Amino acid sequence: MNICLVGINQHTAPVAIREKAAIRSEDLGEALELLRSQASHGVILSTCNRTEVYTIPGDNGSFERASFNFLKTHLDIPETSLLKHAYILEGEEAVEHLFRTASGLDSMVIGEYEILGQLRQALKTAESLGMVNLPLRHIFQSAIRIGRRVRQETGISKSPFSVSSVAVELAVKVLGNLKSCRMLIIGAGEAGKLVAKAAKDRGVSQIIVASRTQARASNLTEMLGGIPTSLDNLEEKLATCNIVVACADAPRYLLDVSRMEKTMSRRPELPLVIIDIAVPRNVEPAVAGLKNVFLHNIDDLSQISEQNRRQRELEVRKVEKIISAELAKFAAWWQGFKVRPLIRAMMSRAEEIRRSHLERTVKKLPELSDDERFHLEMMTRAIVTKILKEPVQNLKTKKSDNNDYAAMAKELFQLDEEKY
Ligand SMILES: NC(=O)c1ccc[n+]([C@@H]2O[C@H](COP(=O)([O-])OP(=O)(O)OC[C@H]3O[C@@H](n4cnc5c(N)ncnc54)[C@H](OP(=O)(O)O)[C@@H]3O)[C@@H](O)[C@H]2O)c1
Repeated sequence: MNICLVGINQHTAPVAIREKAAIRSEDLGEALELLRSQASHGVILSTCNRTEVYTIPGDNGSFERASFNFLKTHLDIPETSLLKHAYILEGEEAVEHLFRTASGLDSMVIGEYEILGQLRQALKTAESLGMVNLPLRHIFQSAIRIGRRVRQETGISKSPFSVSSVAVELAVKVLGNLKSCRMLIIGAGEAGKLVAKAAKDRGVSQIIVASRTQARASNLTEMLGGIPTSLDNLEEKLATCNIVVACADAPRYLLDVSRMEKTMSRRPELPLVIIDIAVPRNVEPAVAGLKNVFLHNIDDLSQISEQNRRQRELEVRKVEKIISAELAKFAAWWQGFKVRPLIRAMMSRAEEIRRSHLERTVKKLPELSDDERFHLEMMTRAIVTKILKEPVQNLKTKKSDNNDYAAMAKELFQLDEEKY
């Protein structure tokens, strides 16, 4: 299988590297254009915990280094540094990785649902720029279908957790009961909504949602309760809350040291727990040095998510069984796909021979009725189809480590795939 994946994720790189590689959804189109200069067909999947680049050969055939070169340029780091953090997978291994990712097995929070929407979006954006060819589309659509299947047929996503809900669990671990806490959520997108839901379930006494677009914060608080506010108006809210969960998709720090120094000077004795699950991070890391500030980032969630993984081990094994059956199905599809041009050439060649011999024979015979002509046509077609049926079937399904049946058929029948 000619597919190559180069990626970094939470298992191979800390958040400080992942945030450099992260591509915000509004920048994905531009990133794909950069990838196009290396490979004509590719999909970029960028989530809070991974940036992965899948490429497949287009008509010009070159693609192997494309994903790697793209990430190197995008991250602007030397090759050796990228090699330290990146995984490079090819062929079946790359497909298996994508199937595992779609199933939620590669996530920080096993079985989370968000990855399916992120995969759909990655495919849609690449499609809209004409960067998805048939095999790439089939791989991604299969992954999304498998992701849905494992969630229906196993308990991998039962009582689903998400990075957002695990962030609230971390707050519980640090502060104990959240019932008398005031929580400020920065960001009112998908992550903010999940944080607010989990906070409500945990009985947080007051939730304040801050968003760049205040209407979005208002929609969320109307739905789940709480107070909406804008990002310009944070100091006052920061002065009185106990927990901040930051999850805005901003390209720069929203809470930097100087802003937090001012905040803490208004509440020097009141501890503040900040959980920053945004990638790139919303909070300047040096804020952790301020007195009475307890800063955690997304990598600090791994301990809680590890517990979740252990609880779901039995379900993980069920999912792995499904993935391995799906991989066999996919390999069969790929083999059939790979020999399609050869089969087309074989059939066209046979059809050319049938037609020219039929014409020659018809010319030598006395004039035929339409009915006779029809029967002759059908009989010759049936002969060709019958003779080619088994070779075609074998080309689509037979695999051997020692024999390349496609190459042999090409040689034996002297076929030129380009011609047809
Ligand atoms: N989705 C998840 O499950 C998940 C899990 C863990 C971490 N995260 C991280 O959380 C962050 C948000 O993800 P999401 O899925 O919630 O994205 P989303 O649904 O697209 O929402 C993005 C949010 O960020 C705000 N935003 C965008 N650009 C901004 C800027 N320049 N300044 C301030 N706010 C800005 C948006 O405000 P507007 O309404 O004004 O556009 C919106 O509230 C990302 O860093 C992501 O990596 C997400």
